[in-house]
Amino acid sequence: GEGDDYGDAATMGALRQLYAGYAWADVASLEPAAAAGRAVRGAATVQCVVAGGGTARFAAGLRRESVVDVAGVVSLPREPVRGTTHQLVEIQVEKLHCISRAVSNLPISVEDAARSEEDVARAKAAGEQLVHVGQDRRLDYRVIDLRTAANQAIFRVQCQVENMPLSEGFVGIHTPKLIGGSSEGGAAVFKLDYNGQPACLAQSPQLHKQMAVCGGFERVFEVGPVFRAEGSDTHRHLCEFVGLDVEMVLRDHYSEVCEVVDRLFVAMFDHLNKNCARELEAIQRQYPFKPLKYLETTLRLDYDQGIRMLQEAGVHVDPMGDLNTYDTEFYMLCRYPSAARPFYTMPCSDDPRYSCSFDVFVRGEEIISGAQRVHAPELLVAQAEARGIDVRTIAAYIDSFRSGAPPHGGFVVGLERVVMLFCGLGNIRKTSLFPRDPRRLAP
Ligand code: 4AD
Repeated sequence: GEGDDYGDAATMGALRQLYAGYAWADVASLEPAAAAGRAVRGAATVQCVVAGGGTARFAAGLRRESVVDVAGVVSLPREPVRGTTHQLVEIQVEKLHCISRAVSNLPISVEDAARSEEDVARAKAAGEQLVHVGQDRRLDYRVIDLRTAANQAIFRVQCQVENMPLSEGFVGIHTPKLIGGSSEGGAAVFKLDYNGQPACLAQSPQLHKQMAVCGGFERVFEVGPVFRAEGSDTHRHLCEFVGLDVEMVLRDHYSEVCEVVDRLFVAMFDHLNKNCARELEAIQRQYPFKPLKYLETTLRLDYDQGIRMLQEAGVHVDPMGDLNTYDTEFYMLCRYPSAARPFYTMPCSDDPRYSCSFDVFVRGEEIISGAQRVHAPELLVAQAEARGIDVRTIAAYIDSFRSGAPPHGGFVVGLERVVMLFCGLGNIRKTSLFPRDPRRLAP
């Protein structure tokens, strides 16, 4: 037909109104997820069959990735649907309307981007030529790449992780991202000009979340962007990532913070396995992985114990260095050497060479860093100066502890790392919607 409709516009409009949400519900109700009471918009594939005639000619002229409205009859497929393993229904198309046309020369196809490495290897062994689109190219055309079933699932899982229920009296806060001095120290900071004043993008909400605790909030959390001028171009570093920050008043001991991590993560992993089974399956189809092994109560080891176990296993590690690779699936390492931690970390009262701090690991890689913080201003100044930090740049922060400050501690979770490691994805760029790494500032 001519124009973008097959079928007259008035009928199509009326049909769209009549069937708004209806055809979808019909399709979904035949799918297993819907049986569990959850139809996920945008997460299903359905084959549409056009019988012939004008509608078929119109459909044949449509390019891949064009957006269409379809009205038709939901039916059981007469034969298995090509290219899918779980298609239960198809639609016998009666009316077809093109809402948005895609160009003919798309830089990548969703089908190619969705291919697993195993598919490509299998095809190669069989002498077939299958296009394999590399990660960089997929990221260059991320809007198309995001349409693969695995990517749709990854960001649905991420949304669940990000919305972990902090039901224990935590208040959500938003700290400034434009700050005067660096928050974590070191060179990894993006500098900028703030109306003539030197400033930088916050390396973490660290100083301001502590100041919020000094401001009378007993328990705070923040989900927000964290900026690191990373030199390291690795599979687990981004220049901008999402941090889930928690800070809380301590009654007695920094292990109270570890207990929050334990409760939160065990519940979150249980939730993902139970309620995101369909998403995890979609990810597994493109990126096969084994489910994460974790205990009901998270294993906690002292750093020294961990080092000893590694040394006994024949791995050479420097006991006073920063340990970041360890081969179990989910555990915490506590009591790090003070020298390996930021200036605001509380030293252990029995041996100040060690600190009241911990890191949490998933599949051998760090996802969380936490600690009790120093709340005595004199010690804070001494520790900052010992690390070469110009305390004038953090004067307001130090002063916050001069008007009465409770003992407190907290942690930060790297959102992209949690999803990457829970799903066994080998690269953090896969769990960042539009990743920023040392080489990438677009799209
Ligand atoms: O270890 P980090 O730098 O710790 C802090 O930001 C402190 N304020 C918290 C503390 O008490 N020490 O970062 C914490 C977490 C890491 O465990 C990791 O998950 C993530 O943030 N992270 C990164 N994620 C992606 N790209 C990077 N460049 C990251 N750097 C840290």
